[in-house]
Amino acid sequence: MVYDYVRWEEKAIANAAKKKGLNLNLIDSKDISILLNKDYKNEFGSVVLQRCLSYFRSLHLTAALEARGISVINNFNVALTAGNKLFTTLALIKAGVPTPQTTLSFAPESAIKSLEKLGYPAVLKPTIGSWGRLVALLKDKDSAEAIFEDRVHMFPLYQIYYIQEFVKRPPRDIRSIVIDGKVVAAIYRVSLSGNWKTNMALGAKAEKCPITKELEDICDKASKAVGGGILGIDCMESPNGLLVHEVNNTTEFKNTVPTTGVDIPGLIIDYLMKVRR
Ligand SMILES: Nc1ncnc2c1ncn2[C@@H]1O[C@H](COP(=O)(O)OP(=O)(O)O)[C@@H](O)[C@H]1O
Ligand SMILES: [Mg+2]
Repeated sequence: MVYDYVRWEEKAIANAAKKKGLNLNLIDSKDISILLNKDYKNEFGSVVLQRCLSYFRSLHLTAALEARGISVINNFNVALTAGNKLFTTLALIKAGVPTPQTTLSFAPESAIKSLEKLGYPAVLKPTIGSWGRLVALLKDKDSAEAIFEDRVHMFPLYQIYYIQEFVKRPPRDIRSIVIDGKVVAAIYRVSLSGNWKTNMALGAKAEKCPITKELEDICDKASKAVGGGILGIDCMESPNGLLVHEVNNTTEFKNTVPTTGVDIPGLIIDYLMKVRR
């Protein structure tokens, strides 16, 4: 397992490996120094679980490991697709998975035109990011223009105007932990503070969510659309049924385990042992 920060999840995965008698070698990505044209395969074993929190560190290290023939969970293509909300949306649309209406623009003026197509309120998101950071509610044209004006002075990533219709849903969304296309556990993330964003990082509360046939089907399709592996798939309950708005590549599950009682770390180890063969 490669990591950069040790969260609850990495500790739980390491404990699950110990319990199951698997020799899981823990490698801090910050200690890695590899000569790319040499064979560094032996140091990493037969399969690597990628758990870096940093998107850039994770993606670049996965590329280097796969180039040496090492299997990485999740693989590079999954990390690239799921790590970027635009690439995810394109993959979901291609696979026919219901997802919110989304527009793409590259300048404030055209982004305002996109908003005329979607209507207000709408949601602006960085294509790479998590924990609800810089996900902004555009209530009307004035607030959209003010937010876009700020974006012009930011890093080029934040000048990709990925904008979504605001989905009319209850003050909660659904996080499913999906391993190899199967929903192993699901929670509602309920916003208590009145924040319209339901991220756990923003103080939402976890409640057990039943795994319905609709949830199973949409998550299986979304998992296939991005290339499978171990995923956190986020859905919203729209008036017309479930919509997938995000697929998380290195998913967190510290609230899902106590809420559902499902041994997610153990299931991750089982999956690694299966793909290792
Ligand atoms: N299109 C939308 N309509 C309504 N709420 C949304 C929409 N997109 C996101 N949200 C809310 O904002 C939160 C953060 O958005 P998300 O796309 O998951 O970004 P992040 O990667 O930062 O978690 C979601 O959990 C959800 O509560
Ligand atoms: Mg999210």
